[in-house]
Parts: sequence; structure tokens; C-alpha cells
Amino acid sequence: MKAARLHAYGPADVLVIDEVPEPTVGPGELRVHVAASSVNPVDTKLRKGALKVVMRWKLPHTTGLDCAGTVLEVGQGVSGFSVGDRVFCAPDPAGQGVCSEQAILKASETALTPDNLSDAQAASLPLVALTAYDCLVRSANVQPGDKVLILGGAGGVGTVAIQMAKALGAEVSVTASPRNRELVLRLGADHVVDYTKERPQDVLEPQDVVLIAVGGDGGQTAIRASRKGARLAHIVGDLPLFVEKYGHYVGTLAAGLNMARFWLSARLAGRRGANVVKKPDGLALSKIAQWVEEGAIVPVIDSEFAMDDVAEAHRRVESGKVQGKVVVLHTR
Ligand SMILES: NC(=O)c1ccc[n+]([C@@H]2O[C@H](COP(=O)([O-])OP(=O)(O)OC[C@H]3O[C@@H](n4cnc5c(N)ncnc54)[C@H](OP(=O)(O)O)[C@@H]3O)[C@@H](O)[C@H]2O)c1
Repeated sequence: MKAARLHAYGPADVLVIDEVPEPTVGPGELRVHVAASSVNPVDTKLRKGALKVVMRWKLPHTTGLDCAGTVLEVGQGVSGFSVGDRVFCAPDPAGQGVCSEQAILKASETALTPDNLSDAQAASLPLVALTAYDCLVRSANVQPGDKVLILGGAGGVGTVAIQMAKALGAEVSVTASPRNRELVLRLGADHVVDYTKERPQDVLEPQDVVLIAVGGDGGQTAIRASRKGARLAHIVGDLPLFVEKYGHYVGTLAAGLNMARFWLSARLAGRRGANVVKKPDGLALSKIAQWVEEGAIVPVIDSEFAMDDVAEAHRRVESGKVQGKVVVLHTR
């Protein structure tokens, strides 16, 4: 079967399509025909080797951290899944990736694909939707009527987070550049801040919750734009920037200190700051699937690429201009 793999860390060109043996299923696992996967910024950071200190793969390694497809084989001890079921999943990044014709998925990290989604749409959702869920539900515990600000509304995480926050009954504000204004309004945003001209703290009422999906001074903006007691969920560690500046080991330490600095400055300002890292979770994905079935969350696809063009798909994500998600379509 075909798999998109890297044999060395580096630019998008390191990705090649290899012929590899079909994987074998173990207890608690599913063997899945992968119809589509998607590319996230973290795939490009891992491919460059920028996260090597915290996650070092044995190369060659298959890229891809979320996917959708059909169950081919069910491992021992698995309940709730049958051969032929359509499933989607964002597996643990420590294992092999899923940009391949078949993949082994842990049943506990997988959910049934909502009937109203194509495989391409389903593949676009798990990683970003679980991230939004971990921030808005688990970390910030968003309640109806909360004022929620999303810094970075038009990207993969932002486009789902807007819809999830609305489904939770929040009043939602987002930052976006002018070209993304219509998109975020269509997704349900109540207020849009053009970050190229204005600052959230100058134009919005103090916020109860902020999801920080942009790097740089996003953490400080969140503190200034929120009220005392607000819950702030930060998902950008800026590790690649620190590694580029200081090298792998000092850079990783500096990124860790930067995250601690955010937490401390939030605390000193009377906010609760959390550095959130998405966890694989089939049950949370099933809850997200319900929202999708009810029409509350609709995936936003920026572009689609064939598996042979996976390097192009990575370059598109690295442009930083993605509206929603970049999807890779696999062949049978
Ligand atoms: N901790 C975790 O578990 C976790 C999980 C998922 C993602 N992440 C991280 O979160 C970040 C966002 O992920 P993503 O998938 O949403 O990225 P993405 O899809 O690449 O986001 C691209 C979007 O970001 C917007 N953007 C860029 N700079 C901005 C700014 N200063 N203010 C507002 N919008 C801005 C761009 O819109 P404009 O053209 O409008 O600027 C673009 O549409 C990445 O760094 C990613 O690695 C972390």
C-alpha cells in the first residue's frame, strides 16, 4: 500500500510516497482503509524536526494526524465498531501517522463518522475539533451567555471553535484579517475584530473566555481583552520559533519558560491561564459527531490535494493563510 513518509526531517520535499506492507491489527485496534487525511500546522512542525526534543520519531515515519475511512478489520476486545463502519480519528502523534492507504487506529481514539459528512469533510475535523473541545469545554467550561473571544478565527481550529462556542450558547468574538471577515460571520461570529487595524481590548467588552490560536503576543492580548477571573486557553507554544532562534535544547527550554510566563502573568492579572494540548479521545469525538449531525458544526475545507501531492498540501498549510482545513484525498 502507499504511504506518505519522511526519511529525514526537513522542508516539504522530504515527503515521498513509499510502497509499504499492509499493517496488522492488534487488540483494541481497528485496521482502516483511509479515504482522506488532513494536514495541520503541527504536521509541518514535526516534519521540520522542530519538535524533535519533545517528540522524536524513528525514521522513516508516515505523516498525518487525522483521518477518515472505513473499518477493514476489528481487533480483539473491541466493541462498538464493525467491518464496514465509517470512522474518523485523530490518533496519538507518538505512533505512525495516517497519510497512508491503510492505518491502525486505537478504537478508544476513534468514533463513527456522522452520516452527513463526506470522508474528506470528516478527515478535516478530529484534530481541530478535539482541540476546540479541550479548550472550550474541558479547560474553560464555557457556559451559555459567556463572552468568548477566539484569537485566530479563520484557521483550522478557529473555524470549528466559533461554531462550537455558539453551540455552547456563547456570544462569540473573533480576530481575523479583512479577507476572512465574511467567512467568520457566516460561521456565526457575533463580532469580528480586524487585527490588522484594531486591538480586541480597545473594541470589545471584557471577555469571560479567550481561546488563543495565534502565537506571538496572543497570550498578552488575551489577558488585556478579558475580565478578572476569565479563563484563557492557549494552544500555541511557539516552539519552532524558539528552536530556530536558540537551537533544539535551549529553544525547547525557552519555549517552556515562555508558556510558564503566560500562565504566571495570567495568574498575576487574576485570570486562569492554561496551556492546552489536544488529547486523542474517541468519546469526545462522538460528542463532536453529535453536534455535526445536528448541523451545529460544519467543516470548512480550504483545499484538497491528492496523496501524491502531499508536499504541496504541507506548503499550503505553511503559507499561514489557510481558511479552515487542507485535506489529502487517498486512492484505494
Ligand atoms: N496545542 C494543541 O493541541 C494545538 C492543536 C491544534 C493547533 N495548535 C496550534 O494552533 C495554531 C493554530 O492552528 P490552526 O490549525 O488553526 O492554524 P491555521 O489553520 O494554519 O491558521 C491559519 C489562520 O490563522 C490566521 N491568523 C494568522 N495570524 C493571525 C493573527 N495574528 N490573528 C488572527 N488570525 C491570524 C490566518 O488568517 P488571516 O489571514 O486572517 O490572518 C489563517 O486563516 C497553530 O500554531 C497550531 O500548531 C495547537
